[in-house]
Amino acid sequence: MGKLIFVSSGKGGVGKSVFAANLGAVYGERGLRIAFVDMNIGLRNLDIYLGLENNVVFDTADVLNGVVTIEKALVRDKRFQAVWLLATTQRRDKFTASEDQIREFYKALKEKFDMVIVDGPAGVTAEHKLASLSADVAVIVTTPEFVALRDADMIDQTLRARGVGRRVYVVNKVNKYFMSTGSLPSVERITGIMKIPLLGVIQQDDAIHLSANKGIPIVCQRGNYIERNFNKIADRLLGY
Ligand SMILES: Nc1ncnc2c1ncn2[C@@H]1O[C@H](COP(=O)(O)OP(=O)(O)OP(=O)(O)O)[C@@H](O)[C@H]1O
Ligand SMILES: [Mg+2]
Repeated sequence: MGKLIFVSSGKGGVGKSVFAANLGAVYGERGLRIAFVDMNIGLRNLDIYLGLENNVVFDTADVLNGVVTIEKALVRDKRFQAVWLLATTQRRDKFTASEDQIREFYKALKEKFDMVIVDGPAGVTAEHKLASLSADVAVIVTTPEFVALRDADMIDQTLRARGVGRRVYVVNKVNKYFMSTGSLPSVERITGIMKIPLLGVIQQDDAIHLSANKGIPIVCQRGNYIERNFNKIADRLLGY
């Protein structure tokens, strides 16, 4: 049975989808069987970050409404041995699944894959609750600013109340200069605010942004510091 990693955040735009794409790419490079599931219902993004937008025919709503099987809706990322994407629907009104249906859907994916990486929506919404069901580990992504940290802590409390026992966080878009001058909260300050383990810190870097927009997770460029950092994050995550 595979593990379901739920990528979440309080504030939007903190880098969940880019993080999810790179994490899955690291595991994909290692030969693990990975399924990405975009659960940002109505606001599909992950297909673009993976460069698969032209290959998507069916989506989560088609699967959950019984139009096609999961196998039919999965799009293969041919850069890897066994990495697949299930894109989300762009029509919110088409997505009418119940909690039990989502649990069954995730269970079927966990039976087929080593890891199911769910890219969730920002904030505490009904869609967020659905997306978080059956999560084995939640990775809460935040940026190093007080508003994002407060919202990340709120998401952490919400997920804990929902029974997600294993929760870690990542600080993304870190600018060491602003941290060192005290203009943004330091890592020490952040660890004082968050109550869960810190999985890793990712620099703000135009290379991450530009590569994502080309549909290439930056970790596919072997040997740079970002790839090494993501590999360490991926190693640590396996321990949860
Ligand atoms: N470490 C980083 N350095 C520079 N830019 C980044 C980094 N991480 C993400 N970005 C950029 O930040 C923007 C938001 O990223 P992304 O779409 O992954 O956020 P999100 O949390 O998934 O957003 P949403 O809440 O809308 O789903 C994108 O333009 C992306 O390229
Ligand atoms: Mg996103």
